[in-house]
Amino acid sequence: MLTDAAAAAVPRANWSYPTAIRFGVGRISELAEACAAAGIRRPLLVTDRGLSGLPITQRARAVLAGAGLDHGLFGAVDPNPNERNLAAGIAAFRSGGHDGVVAFGGGSALDLGKLVALMADQTRPVWDLEDIGDWWTRADAAAIKPVVAVPTTAGTGSEVGRAGVLTNSASEEKKIIFHPKMLPAVVICDPELTVGMPPAITAGTGMDALAHCIEAYSSPHYHPMSQGIALEGMRLVKTFLPRAFAIGNDLEARAEMMSAAAMGAVAFQKGLGAVHAISHPISAVHHTHHGTTNAVVLPHVLVFNRPAIEARIERAAAYLGLAGGFDGFVAFVVELNETLGIPRTLRGLGVADPDVDRLVEMALRDPTAGGNPIPLTPEATRALIEACL
Ligand SMILES: NC(=O)c1ccc[n+]([C@@H]2O[C@H](COP(=O)([O-])OP(=O)(O)OC[C@H]3O[C@@H](n4cnc5c(N)ncnc54)[C@H](O)[C@@H]3O)[C@@H](O)[C@H]2O)c1
Ligand SMILES: [Fe+2]
Repeated sequence: MLTDAAAAAVPRANWSYPTAIRFGVGRISELAEACAAAGIRRPLLVTDRGLSGLPITQRARAVLAGAGLDHGLFGAVDPNPNERNLAAGIAAFRSGGHDGVVAFGGGSALDLGKLVALMADQTRPVWDLEDIGDWWTRADAAAIKPVVAVPTTAGTGSEVGRAGVLTNSASEEKKIIFHPKMLPAVVICDPELTVGMPPAITAGTGMDALAHCIEAYSSPHYHPMSQGIALEGMRLVKTFLPRAFAIGNDLEARAEMMSAAAMGAVAFQKGLGAVHAISHPISAVHHTHHGTTNAVVLPHVLVFNRPAIEARIERAAAYLGLAGGFDGFVAFVVELNETLGIPRTLRGLGVADPDVDRLVEMALRDPTAGGNPIPLTPEATRALIEACL
């Protein structure tokens, strides 16, 4: 554990918006108390294959064991998790007699942990709870288990979200599964957990947070609270993502990025748009990283949306201290990608032989497509995808 002056300088706070958040360096030591606060006695810790062997995971497990909490480990979540991961997680939850979940990791593990808690005791298939209209009311709300969420990346903000992204492995579609009770009961935001993220993951996850803020801010729905949160989230990413990328153990930068990630997710209750609509099929079919894919797509979508968002992006540029109005804002995004070593094109991310017709169709069907400030047509979507390739 880092206990130097830098660690002491990072703010420590308890927030109750949008849920109970324990924010500060070293607060993973409160994991057992967090479980108690959530009413969990026998947690299943859900994490991904990479994280399950890392010291941060062992530390979290040691905290639980040290407090006498009998817990299990499900450490087999894949990136962009699918229904097979979910079935295995539910089997582990049931066979271990668990009563709640500690979702520990990046968006993949957080989402899958939240989905295990949602689905462990339901009778309907998970696809019946897709985020469409009031489908969430189909769930037996009383059967949903509590979740303590512990992010180890700073990007998706899934720790403060009421949805989980699940890939349907048959159709290769990313589906958003939603229920208001999926919001974790307690969140531990311990910036120190993100210190070991490799630079490429720091970059991609950080750009996911920026994409959430920009898409939420640009979406046409009326939600002035989200506007404010999105704007400050952008400022935090602009100031602190290059620092977190360059110096992995800069705790102040890690902490501010952790806040920016949560803010992006709070803001995008207002809506997302074409960046996510295009990136979802690409990452589901071609197995690219979600946030890194967003980063490649983002400048193209900004330019496409210009007629609808120019005035508000100019206000954002002014707030961020960027010269050049709209063009200055787009240049800032392009330069940030370059600073972070993110490829300019999807081919540079490894997307080979794409079936563009299919990607266009899937993007138009994606639930985030409807939030784009300019309605997406098949022609426009094709042009956007081709430009990104
Ligand atoms: N629920 C939501 O609101 C929401 C929003 C955006 C994205 N998502 C979903 O989240 C997923 C992406 O999540 P992500 O970008 O956080 O990536 P991820 O969870 O897939 O993790 C990426 C990699 O980073 C590793 N990693 C994570 N933390 C680490 C650490 N501290 N040290 C070292 N390695 C670490 C993981 O083992 C993994 O290999 C996608 O499935 C995406 O669709 C969900
Ligand atoms: Fe995202």
